[in-house]
Amino acid sequence: HNHIDHATPERVEAAIAAGETHVHLPDYEALDAYRAEGGYAALGMLRKSGDWEQVQDMMLSAGLRGLGGAGFPSGKKWGFVRAEAGPRYLAVNGDEGEPGTFKDRYYLERVPHLFLEGMLIAAWAVEADRVYLYMRDEYPAVLEILRREIAALEEAKIVVPGYIELRRGAGAYICGEESAMIESIEGKRGLPRHRPPYVAQVGIFNRPTLVHNVETLYWVARVCRDGPEVLSGTEKNGRKGLRSYSVSGRVAKPGVYLLPAGSTIRDIVEAAGGMAEGHVLKAYQPGGPSSGLLPATLDDIPLDFDVLQEHGSFIGSAAVVILSDKDSARGAALNMLRFFEDESCGQCTPCRVGCEKAVKLMQAERWDQDLLEELSQAMVDASICGLGQAAPNPIRLVMKHFPGEV
Ligand code: NAI
Ligand code: SF4
Repeated sequence: HNHIDHATPERVEAAIAAGETHVHLPDYEALDAYRAEGGYAALGMLRKSGDWEQVQDMMLSAGLRGLGGAGFPSGKKWGFVRAEAGPRYLAVNGDEGEPGTFKDRYYLERVPHLFLEGMLIAAWAVEADRVYLYMRDEYPAVLEILRREIAALEEAKIVVPGYIELRRGAGAYICGEESAMIESIEGKRGLPRHRPPYVAQVGIFNRPTLVHNVETLYWVARVCRDGPEVLSGTEKNGRKGLRSYSVSGRVAKPGVYLLPAGSTIRDIVEAAGGMAEGHVLKAYQPGGPSSGLLPATLDDIPLDFDVLQEHGSFIGSAAVVILSDKDSARGAALNMLRFFEDESCGQCTPCRVGCEKAVKLMQAERWDQDLLEELSQAMVDASICGLGQAAPNPIRLVMKHFPGEV
């Protein structure tokens, strides 16, 4: 199914318009098959006689946290949005832009209706008047699956026509930041907003908006169908729950692996078939470039929110990128800062100028570590959004763990 990777969005659009799809659609579970095995029964029951607070309790006892990366308790968000007067909206963040993250795509290309049912359950829970589904354009097969299956849902009268509005992103990393995504949905340039107010209070067109990542909604459906234990029933290293790791880099079998949330990097590498032949683990990104780079010596810590915070990192969207003895930590950090420099929206000086300065300083033969640290602190303190606040992570972690390289 990877043929689609080589198709540009323009070619795909032209092919679809001509009625001949060159988009190689993967073999996914369509509406009929999903309904045949009990799909949409939970939604039907809830719409008929459900109590949203009971469902909220289920999400809280499952321990479901936002899987876009921040880990905010999902049930709590429902409460914030419900506390505001309607009309309310649901916005789905399908922008999945963190380099190394591909778990949302994995689920959408296989079981799109688990996500769609979860989405409609969340929309029901907050009485959303409309759902905006913001999907990255770099996933043409996913877009085509969603077009077809949303039409099937309308046909089956599970949703009224137009209730779900599918929006295409345009390749900007920053449009995955929730408030920039909302600006983009409103038809404006994707510039992050200041908070507070949170989007739960002032979101799309100034209305209270529930924002969830794709995988979070997949788990909403799973929890409704299988009970909270589907998540809370797994325990490892004192942590409850499961996590979908997107694993890439120097491993034998890159891919998405569903493992206990308390897994260590050793467990993850083992699940991915071990290191690629001839490579020895040197460093890893637990959650894409925003999470920086940790050394192989930290191979026995559970990669959970609190533990990683102590190490100046975070698990984020669990985009695990493995580096080996054949890679340069310093080169990887520079590459990450170049990415942030390119993707900074330019709205605030600490991030716009900070990323540019950092790249220049990191190109010197010897890093001016004091100056880089001062710059990092200014970026963390004064940037408007997560991009500028997290961009110094690779700089700081490489200075700390790989001083010999800088
Ligand atoms: P955040 O902590 O600011 O917010 C998380 C969520 O909780 C948001 O929906 C926010 O509106 C809500 N929230 C937080 N406090 C609230 C309050 N007091 N009242 C109401 N709502 C509240 O984190 P952010 O900046 O949204 O996300 C950062 C994460 O995103 C990082 O972990 C990073 O790894 C991840 N990320 C993921 C990407 C991907 O492709 N999946 C791309 C880039 C970053
Ligand atoms: Fe834009 Fe960077 Fe400021 Fe975020 S931190 S608003 S990406 S300039």
